[in-house]
Amino acid sequence: MRKEELVQLIGSLTTEEKVGQLIQLTGNFFDAEDTVMETGPLKKIGFNEETFDLYSTGSLLNVVEPKNIYDIQKKNLAKTKHNIPLLFMADVIYGYKTIFPIPIAQTCSWNFDLIEKAAKVMAKECYDSGIHVTFAPMVDIVRDIRWGRVLESPGEDPILAREYAKSMTKGIQGDESILPQDHLAACVKHFAAYGAPIAGKEYNGVELSEEALHNVYLPSYQAAIAAGSKLVMTAFNTLNGVPCTGNKWLNQEILREEFQFPGVLISDYAAIEELKVHGYTANDLESAKMAIENTVDIDMKTSVYANHLPALANENPEIMKLLDDSVLRVLELKNDLGLFEDPYRGLDPLDFSKGKRLTTQHRQTSLQLAEESVVLLKNEQVLPLKKAEKVAVIGPYGEEKATIGFWAITGDTKDTVSLLEGLKQLADEGIVLPAFAKGCNILPASEVDQYDKYSQAIDIDIHSEETMLEEAIKVASNVDTIVLALGESTYQSGEGGSRTTPCLPKNQVKLLKALKKLGKKIILIVYAGRPLLLDEIVEDVAAILYAWFPGTMSGQALANILYGKANPCAKLSMTFPRSVGQLPIYYNSGSTGRPVQASNPNHRFASRYLDEDNSPLYCFGYGQSYTEFAYGKVELDKESMDENGTITASVTVKNTGNCAGKEIVQLYLQDIAASVVRPVKELKDFRKVILDSGEEKTLQFKITEQQLRFYSPKEGWISESGAFNLFIGKDSEDNQQQGRFYLIKN
Ligand code: GLC
Repeated sequence: MRKEELVQLIGSLTTEEKVGQLIQLTGNFFDAEDTVMETGPLKKIGFNEETFDLYSTGSLLNVVEPKNIYDIQKKNLAKTKHNIPLLFMADVIYGYKTIFPIPIAQTCSWNFDLIEKAAKVMAKECYDSGIHVTFAPMVDIVRDIRWGRVLESPGEDPILAREYAKSMTKGIQGDESILPQDHLAACVKHFAAYGAPIAGKEYNGVELSEEALHNVYLPSYQAAIAAGSKLVMTAFNTLNGVPCTGNKWLNQEILREEFQFPGVLISDYAAIEELKVHGYTANDLESAKMAIENTVDIDMKTSVYANHLPALANENPEIMKLLDDSVLRVLELKNDLGLFEDPYRGLDPLDFSKGKRLTTQHRQTSLQLAEESVVLLKNEQVLPLKKAEKVAVIGPYGEEKATIGFWAITGDTKDTVSLLEGLKQLADEGIVLPAFAKGCNILPASEVDQYDKYSQAIDIDIHSEETMLEEAIKVASNVDTIVLALGESTYQSGEGGSRTTPCLPKNQVKLLKALKKLGKKIILIVYAGRPLLLDEIVEDVAAILYAWFPGTMSGQALANILYGKANPCAKLSMTFPRSVGQLPIYYNSGSTGRPVQASNPNHRFASRYLDEDNSPLYCFGYGQSYTEFAYGKVELDKESMDENGTITASVTVKNTGNCAGKEIVQLYLQDIAASVVRPVKELKDFRKVILDSGEEKTLQFKITEQQLRFYSPKEGWISESGAFNLFIGKDSEDNQQQGRFYLIKN
């Protein structure tokens, strides 16, 4: 339809019908059998059946079965008065049928072309299943491993988060404004800074300076919006005392004016109703007025708009104008999806399951991304395994197929390749098939109940813990090498998954310590939705592969890495702390006026702890390979530049090992003196290069004035004349400063 026709359509709606377009419900209101994830308060929500026409509803949340979507749409069109199709939106964050590694793992690949390719696969499967909007990408920067949603975050760095935002948005939407076939609308979330809750506690308040917001937390949302994200979702948290869903500065000044966002702003689940729970409004009437004045276009899963917005709009022409503007944005989204012409977009009534069939091609993409997301944290020359090596796989994740993470709500763990299944697939390549013993449950039986409704899904073996441990010791005693597959439960991360001490479950540590006494080589594989605290076990094992939750192809990816068919190349997108006391810990921090001096590390009056080292266990950008890379001297083509100039930094990287490998070469800058203190190091660019054994490549990085800018509360985005230190290396602690240059502004 043309925009004029949309405006005309709005003019024909009653006020209640207009408000209906701003309401989002779940499928149960439409008798859908979907039992997909409900993440908000599970209560009947107070719609007034007399005044609310169910068939004026604008959109549905998390109806994901194609036949359900078709049937509901058909019924809705038969009953709605203006032939306005429903929008179907869902949480498909990192895969619909083919599940990819969790986002925090994906960004460890630093391969954003591959991430975009994976997002295209996800979009295709959603399109074929009739879904119109996915609530992705989530681009909340995170610096605290206690927070459960690290799982779906791009990590701690603004550059990686920005690249992730762009790649995901383009993969999901394509790069045209009218959403083409095989694509759907993206919804960047959670606006804003939901990843910085005080104490890492879920839904807790966020207190951030304007400088930190602009320099660290806002760029990734802006990148998704610049890439054309059709929707933005508000965050649950308060930002400096004001809930994001009612935050005029955030939604008007930043989102609508500074970012020029023209699309649909949707609340998070029940977030409009929660304005009063925060203590920001006195009642739902005030919340409805506050939200519509913040241009929140869709009320997800509450009756606040339905019960209060019609009267507010009828009494106040300004509210009516805001209502009309919101309805227009929602109808334009439906129009961009072509729903007025084809309300069954993507669906084939003769083949509803086409989006739910795993294809070899899609599996292959997931396998490649999983292989590039697993981080080799430690390797005392025990990996890759030799085919003839006698190996035992010990641990609950040896046979576990729930390795797709908490948010893969449309995934089926029956499709997942377990570690043992992945190893068996290498049998015809001559590896000695491993023995197996579970050793223990993922969680102690005593802890399961606290996981609420998810406790039924948590596997507790029929054998006693003692029996399982004895069996594991017996099996491990007969081999050379133990591959120990441990990790946190799927239900210990994700939304509502904050933990005060995120470490391996204590029953699993007990198993590890018992196996350690056998004196065998232990290769530890860790499955987790976040960096875990590994300090109590890191010395007990000879190698660590950090698998995160690798998705559908988990076991094949890990088997290929264990036996060297895939050479690990991932590098951490988030810092691993030594202890909870260090949190929040991140690489791009300030110097302080009293940094610890290497020459006097125990000097009392320095920025340090008495009982812990300042350094992380593993730093941002760290990851090993089966080969080695040597970096040559960095050359700068000039010493200074003006604001229109550039400086080119060149470095030669050589593969000095005996197998091919991929290296992620990282360029960091330090603005030595600025009107707002800058971090000791900021990632500004990177290259992922493939080098054969003995091969070398000279890489060039072009530095522009744009990359030297920072946000100053007084002056906005500025660069300042002065000196910059330059570091090029394999990770954020590779400290050889290799260059200094000057920006000289006229
Ligand atoms: C949840 C999450 C959000 C999700 C929404 C719909 O509570 O915060 O990420 O998209 O509700 O399920």
